[in-house]
Amino acid sequence: SAETFTISTGKSSVSCGPDQKMLDAFLRNGVWVPNSCNQGTCGTCKVRVVRGTADHPPAPDSVLSVAEQEQGFVLSCQTTPSSDVVIDPPAENPDSPGHVLRDIAGTVGAVTEIAADTVSVTVLLDEPLDFTAGQYVELAVPGTAETRPYSMANPPSEPDKLEFHIRRQPGGLATEGWIFQTLDVGDPVTMSGPWGDFCFEPDESAGLILLAGGTGLAPLKAIARAALAADPDREIHVYHGVRTRAELYDVDFWEGLAAAHPGVRYIPCLSREQWSGRTGYVGDAMMEDIASCRNHAAYLCGPPAMVEAGVKALKRRRMSPRRIRREKYTPAA
Ligand code: FAD
Ligand code: FES
Repeated sequence: SAETFTISTGKSSVSCGPDQKMLDAFLRNGVWVPNSCNQGTCGTCKVRVVRGTADHPPAPDSVLSVAEQEQGFVLSCQTTPSSDVVIDPPAENPDSPGHVLRDIAGTVGAVTEIAADTVSVTVLLDEPLDFTAGQYVELAVPGTAETRPYSMANPPSEPDKLEFHIRRQPGGLATEGWIFQTLDVGDPVTMSGPWGDFCFEPDESAGLILLAGGTGLAPLKAIARAALAADPDREIHVYHGVRTRAELYDVDFWEGLAAAHPGVRYIPCLSREQWSGRTGYVGDAMMEDIASCRNHAAYLCGPPAMVEAGVKALKRRRMSPRRIRREKYTPAA
């Protein structure tokens, strides 16, 4: 729609500009709505429109059921109002990380190949960014109207310089078409953030189990660093799964962390190559090592299948579902 409309939740109201998505309008105005993918694939951001009309692409049944659609539920990350609207306050108990979404500009400080088809990119920001360890930004892909989400690998105590771990996707618009092709030191970068509800909870004192697949290690690095800054003796078990040794990265960083902190264990796992270290999937390796996860909390990040298998493994080891937090690197629809 080309007009600005008002979205009211009963408690608060925000204005939503032409073509702006409802989720974007909420987060930019400090109204928290739980959200994860910002691309219509997870369903976390659903809200119920009780009055007014809105435009959105069809949502897959697996993300928003027919019954929910009939009740007026929409994916707020995909929906733009076409009149003033009233929504029910979001159903889930929203634990806001408390940062306002905004546009951010910066300059590339470094692009480093860290493993096969994997780079680390450092972006020096014009202004510091408030975020919680685990969250991500949407990078604008130059010359297109597209954005892609990438997780911060640095903790929020370093708010001026963001670190990203990015894996090449064959034929990918952002990765093969830009990041692995032309992106270079000194290039300007624009993004919005912070996004997502994959957030480190600093008040929880349980031992942590971190399960990563590929570049899903990025937000877990931020979480481990934030946790250790608060408590250098924190118990943290880090499982990093990749297919082959050539895909492993940040080994020195994690070995250094384990050497400096008595509570840290680092376990890289290869799923498609034999070596002197562990083989197989991270969830299976974790189950071999830890008899009960009852007193731990977990953060998982990586490809959807890896995250789902990891959640199952944690539940089999008796972890309570409310202590399991996850981020799935689902491809853009
Ligand atoms: P696209 O142009 O989007 O895709 C090209 C083709 O490849 C399409 O057919 C697409 O369906 C397919 N495809 C894309 N990705 C995959 C895949 N993973 N598996 C199978 N097929 C695929 N990636 C990182 O490397 N580091 C991060 O920190 C990171 N953080 C993310 C955070 C969130 C919340 C989400 C949802 C995703 C994150 N991703 C991350 C994935 C990233 O956003 C992009 O999806 C990825 O880089 C591919 O983008 P692209 O534009 O190069 O490929
Ligand atoms: Fe909207 Fe995932 S569907 S945040």
